[in-house]
Amino acid sequence: MAEVIDGNRIAREVRAEIRAQAIELKAKRGITPGLAVILVGEDPASKIYVGRKEKAAAEAGFLSREFLLPAETTEDRLREIVAGLNSSPEIHGILVQLPLPKHINPDVVIETIDPRKDVDGFHPVNIGGLFTGRPGHRACTPLGVIELLDRSGIAIEGREAVIVGRSNIVGKPLALMLLNRHATVTICHTRTRDLAAVARRADILVAAAGKAEMVRGDMVKEGAVIVDVGIHRIPDASKKSGFRLVGDVKFDEVAPKCSWIAPVPGGVGPMTITSLLLNTLKASRHAFSPPSPLTWRARGWSCVATRGPMRACKTIRLPSLPGQRISTPSSCRWCWRSRWWTRWMRPCGWPTM
Ligand code: GUN
Repeated sequence: MAEVIDGNRIAREVRAEIRAQAIELKAKRGITPGLAVILVGEDPASKIYVGRKEKAAAEAGFLSREFLLPAETTEDRLREIVAGLNSSPEIHGILVQLPLPKHINPDVVIETIDPRKDVDGFHPVNIGGLFTGRPGHRACTPLGVIELLDRSGIAIEGREAVIVGRSNIVGKPLALMLLNRHATVTICHTRTRDLAAVARRADILVAAAGKAEMVRGDMVKEGAVIVDVGIHRIPDASKKSGFRLVGDVKFDEVAPKCSWIAPVPGGVGPMTITSLLLNTLKASRHAFSPPSPLTWRARGWSCVATRGPMRACKTIRLPSLPGQRISTPSSCRWCWRSRWWTRWMRPCGWPTM
């Protein structure tokens, strides 16, 4: 019988580490990681997810901001809100919950997010970073899968990994992450000819097809590692709630054959939000902590408009910084609306992660 990968326990461990690091970051550099979660509309499942993300962020000691917008919100308004958060010094991570209402193009909205704050890892810059093995944020569910494998001591390098499902959120990014960790990777999908035969080759089999209990016992090699990413409610009269949760894997058939299994519920699920916290913490570590107005005064910086210390939202001229020249007028500390935030990032522009 397989050993169960306990996602709840691992998530608890990682979240405790994140919380400790957030406290240290606050003590040493005065930065509190900040996460903004935006939900447009009333989708009940999305509301639950957003609530959980917000709660997890608060429990980790993060600043957590929730934006619940009506379903009629226009694409332009949503982009305005995202742009405002891009410039906000207290927000290091922005997440726009998907799916969005039909009249809003998710690609346009995602591309509005500053890639450094794209803690979902959906921005093309981050996807490009994943493709080329360069720094950037990684999509949360695949990142959670890798963390589960690593923390269970399961080797990835040199092993044959088969992923069932080719979604942009799970299948494709996970394939690249496993490839970057030197696995031999195959992606299966609805048009794969002999799915069972391909799946049986897997040392690590990831089920992310979105189809309840589709991975059966005869699709699994003896001793394989199974990661179930699916989650479905199916009717069950024996339960008080009238339903039970299952994954993409038929647990009872598969568990006796494999060496490890990440089940549903309690496997990958708790790790997705944990990855979101990890990405937000990482983003906040690389954020520039702004000097206080007192520092500005001590350095003799003043507001161009008032010629006084920078109290109000007025245009100011900033002196050059080590490694950077700032010659264009920017906005003052109290509005943060201009380029000044990005210009104060480290000179390389991209934090190393
Ligand atoms: N909807 C379902 N999964 C996700 C996710 O990982 N991120 C976002 N933003 N929306 C989702």
